[in-house]
Amino acid sequence: MKIRIDRFLSHMGIGSRSEIKNFLKISKILVNGKVINDSKIKVDTQVDEVFFDDKKIIYHEFTYLMLNKPKGYISATFDEKLKTVVDLLEKPYSNMNLFPVGRLDIDTTGLLILTNDGKFSYNVTNPKKKINKKYFVKLLYPFTDEQKNLIEKGIFLKKENILIENAVVEKVSEKEIFLTISQGKFHQVKRMLEYVKNKVVDLKRVKIGFLELDKNLKLSEYRELSEEEILKIFHKI
Ligand code: URA
Repeated sequence: MKIRIDRFLSHMGIGSRSEIKNFLKISKILVNGKVINDSKIKVDTQVDEVFFDDKKIIYHEFTYLMLNKPKGYISATFDEKLKTVVDLLEKPYSNMNLFPVGRLDIDTTGLLILTNDGKFSYNVTNPKKKINKKYFVKLLYPFTDEQKNLIEKGIFLKKENILIENAVVEKVSEKEIFLTISQGKFHQVKRMLEYVKNKVVDLKRVKIGFLELDKNLKLSEYRELSEEEILKIFHKI
């Protein structure tokens, strides 16, 4: 694909079009080893070698990040009052128009994917696609066999008139469980536990599809996903 150098660089988060114009003016951009000053020059995204500030910039249409979401951030791209997960990103990612795939509550931590690929986001979040989301849940009260049976049998949430089915529960300790669901209704895990007369005190998402949260990522840290990891979400490898 051939595109203008300024579009290439703004898409990869190097800066706004006007910032890039300035970078071109001060000779910070090289294409195939030659300094480029004209923003209208076209480059072949697959063939040409583009360097910005001595760093090779590889073009790709979409970007996918795995974030270990901390508490205190909402899963949105903008809010007048609250901090959003996008506020955690630094350049170049903060310039890429990334958005969160689905939602975690403000007080939920763990695996959140950010991308600029709308189709991917739809495929991960649409309940019909049945992509599992696994949570580690800390509870206020001991988790009973009766509660386990109720959840596994299916829970009817009256407000939305929906049946939560196919939930899988693994008990970890008296007040800790793993819960896997494929739907993603508002406060779903909290409401499921409320329904069985328990209460969530801490919630962390640990897995989406077959992709686990990278244990090396501390809260607020993020990294790009590999192609293999993206396929893992959909169990294609
Ligand atoms: N269910 C919840 O209740 N909260 C989340 O953040 C995710 C799932």
